[in-house]
Amino acid sequence: MAEAVAVPVTVLPGGVDMPMIGFGTWRLRGRTGREAVLTALRDGYPHIDTATMYGNEAEVGHALTESGLSRDSVFLTTKLPSSRAGHERGTLAASLRALGTDHVDLWLVHWPPAGRKLCEVWREFIALQEEGRARAIGVSNYSLAQIDRLTEATGVTPAVNQIPWSPARHDPVLLAGHTERGVAVEGYSPLKGANLSDPVLTGIATAHGVTPAQVVLRWHLEHGITIIPKSSHPDRIAANVDVLGFTLTADQVARIDAVSRR
Ligand SMILES: NC(=O)c1ccc[n+]([C@@H]2O[C@H](COP(=O)([O-])OP(=O)(O)OC[C@H]3O[C@@H](n4cnc5c(N)ncnc54)[C@H](OP(=O)(O)O)[C@@H]3O)[C@@H](O)[C@H]2O)c1
Repeated sequence: MAEAVAVPVTVLPGGVDMPMIGFGTWRLRGRTGREAVLTALRDGYPHIDTATMYGNEAEVGHALTESGLSRDSVFLTTKLPSSRAGHERGTLAASLRALGTDHVDLWLVHWPPAGRKLCEVWREFIALQEEGRARAIGVSNYSLAQIDRLTEATGVTPAVNQIPWSPARHDPVLLAGHTERGVAVEGYSPLKGANLSDPVLTGIATAHGVTPAQVVLRWHLEHGITIIPKSSHPDRIAANVDVLGFTLTADQVARIDAVSRR
């Protein structure tokens, strides 16, 4: 087993530590999925991102059991599909059964449900968090205006918004809006959304003796954005978590930020 990596954490409301590097599992199913998650756990990813929609919660649960790691040492996130609005309790119960646990660390609304359901689902999330089924609750693919509606309706602000992020999508105003509200940003599709042949990235990668993908992932961390890269290849799974041995200078961060303004 690889040496444990000291992954930084973002402290969510209620004092919940969310490790800032997680393993993304979209499209990782069946035996390949279980093996990829097991590899990630062995490589030191302390956080796994799954969802009801991914159809792989059982694989994640099996990999966790097989890893021999204690439940407390791994941060588990799953998500409610908006099509399950009105069935929050049963859907979370099914997720917990599949994952083989009595609670998740973070439960997200996968996409904003329309109309009144936006706040109704959030009320159910708050109730289930109070019952201890989720240590933290948040949303995904929400605008700041939608987050504000939840806060105004319930007094409880989502701890996290999981949204697409990459150099090409860098949006300092959106990031600041989350920071002002105390909402942690978790960036998804960090690599898919990046041009890994971009000379800015390849130049910085050469300077540090790392890959452009590692530069992209490190850049997210420099901005305080949690990353959840996915890979089905053991070498990439290992490389994507190995981003703590170097830091980017302010100038390098600024040059990557500028990619979104081209
Ligand atoms: N909340 C949402 O609506 C939402 C939406 C999308 C994703 N997500 C979550 O975010 C996670 C990450 O997003 P994602 O899977 O869309 O994209 P991603 O992690 O940015 O990219 C994954 C793609 O990049 C490749 N890749 C991985 N590591 C690489 C490396 N070191 N060098 C070059 N290529 C590499 C992978 O191929 P190989 O597998 O062949 O290595 C795969 O094709 C998902 O798995 C999921 O957990 C959430």
